Amino acid sequence: MELKNKDLSKENVGSLDVLIGLFYGDEGKGKIVQYLADNYDLVCRFNGGPNAGHTIYINGESVVLNTISCGIFSGASLCGDGMVVNPILMKEEIEKVIKYGANVKKNFYIGTGAHIILPTHLLLDKAEEMAKGDGKIGSTQMGICPVYRDKIGRDGVRIGDILDNDFKNIYEKQVAKHTKILKELYNYDCTQELQAMNEQFFPAIEFLKQYKDNFVNSSAFVNLYLKQGKKILAEGAQATMLDISFGTYPFVTSSRTLASAAPAELGIGAQYVRNVYGVLKAYTTRVGGGPLATRVPQELEAYIQEIAHERGARTGRPRNVAWLDLPTLRYAIDLNGATSLVLTKLDIFDLMKEDLKICTHYMVNGVQKDTIDFNLVSESDNIVPVYTDFKNWQGQKSEAIKSYNELPKEAQEYLEFIEAQVGVPISIISVGVGKDDLILK
Ligand code: GDP
Ligand code: IMO
Ligand code: MG
Repeated sequence: MELKNKDLSKENVGSLDVLIGLFYGDEGKGKIVQYLADNYDLVCRFNGGPNAGHTIYINGESVVLNTISCGIFSGASLCGDGMVVNPILMKEEIEKVIKYGANVKKNFYIGTGAHIILPTHLLLDKAEEMAKGDGKIGSTQMGICPVYRDKIGRDGVRIGDILDNDFKNIYEKQVAKHTKILKELYNYDCTQELQAMNEQFFPAIEFLKQYKDNFVNSSAFVNLYLKQGKKILAEGAQATMLDISFGTYPFVTSSRTLASAAPAELGIGAQYVRNVYGVLKAYTTRVGGGPLATRVPQELEAYIQEIAHERGARTGRPRNVAWLDLPTLRYAIDLNGATSLVLTKLDIFDLMKEDLKICTHYMVNGVQKDTIDFNLVSESDNIVPVYTDFKNWQGQKSEAIKSYNELPKEAQEYLEFIEAQVGVPISIISVGVGKDDLILK
């Protein structure tokens, strides 16, 4: 039986491609967005806030963006309604992108429904993490959990509210609630700290008001692009295994990180999603708490941290390092409907002195697991990763190589094994930090 549907193929409608991280964040999403952005009319962030740190290079200089999309240097860029925004950091970031040549008045848009991270959200994040002791999540302490909690509790403050004459009262009501929690639950008197933070907060709010003509309803804004047949890219933040519903709960972030969250959080229909780029590193890293089944031995971890500068772009904390883990990758591909893979940091393996490993499956209580259909956190002690070994290609180079055929044969074998195992093509291979250090396959 065929039911009648609107035939989108006959209409000049636009489309949404989504780029997301497949593991625990820091896969190199920012760099890939910077490369792809020229092919799109609009690039949007849809989730999270300044807990993200997306690194790009401009004229050889490293620039980290936390809230604004890495597409800002190519054209229109939206911080969608599903995001959370710290006005103080947003002011600094706007000033930073202007310094690097972005036309903010023309290209920067922000959703009025994005929630504001108040100074007291930062204090709550800190107090709550401290109170968790050994069970702490390892949050970036950017106030992410408290601000999303207020959003879900239908008690948050949004970007649109800053234009309200009553904003000071809205703010004070929230802050009174938060300071009461801090005092009564955590015995934390934040009066002085808060005063100092407010001295930055209110000027930042005034600063943002200059851009009030760029405040939009994400849904109306993005739908207009789509009706004009335009192409949109969504830049995921955090990553699949940090998703609030399907990640390694409770060691997750407080937003929805999956590709399917992009249309939902931007306010457009699911039918517009076309390609889903899933980004992974040649190996895996994780910063903060939570399981990492294929973590490498300490000495090798220290070596990779050093050669690959594996430190959090947001917090500077060292990132834990693991071998590529196919059960997690298969799970992440299914969760996102990834249509192609982007593999970064292959060049790091140019410096590997030992053989490489890929975990093909786990044994959990004697049962083979090819994907994650169990609780990865509570079962983590029972997981035995099973590996396939690969020859290193020491003495040869993938760095700065431009065509697939020129890659060391061993590197090609490593990549082709992954594709064969997961059944999704690797379309881009990244072999350096620069925007064009890429191989299109
Ligand atoms: P994101 O959060 O996913 O955007 O990634 P981050 O910016 O937090 O971390 C990725 C790091 O790897 C950054 O320092 C990038 O400059 C760097 N990077 C990205 N791709 C490559 C690559 O192919 N090779 C090397 N050597 N570094 C890369
Ligand atoms: P990008 O977009 C890596 C981690 C934190 C912590 C957990 C919860 O740069 O890939 P939160 O502050 O969100 O409450 O912290 O999530 N985390 C990230 N790890 N990259 C990120 O973003 C991250 N954003 C949050 O380390 O374990
Ligand atoms: Mg990052």
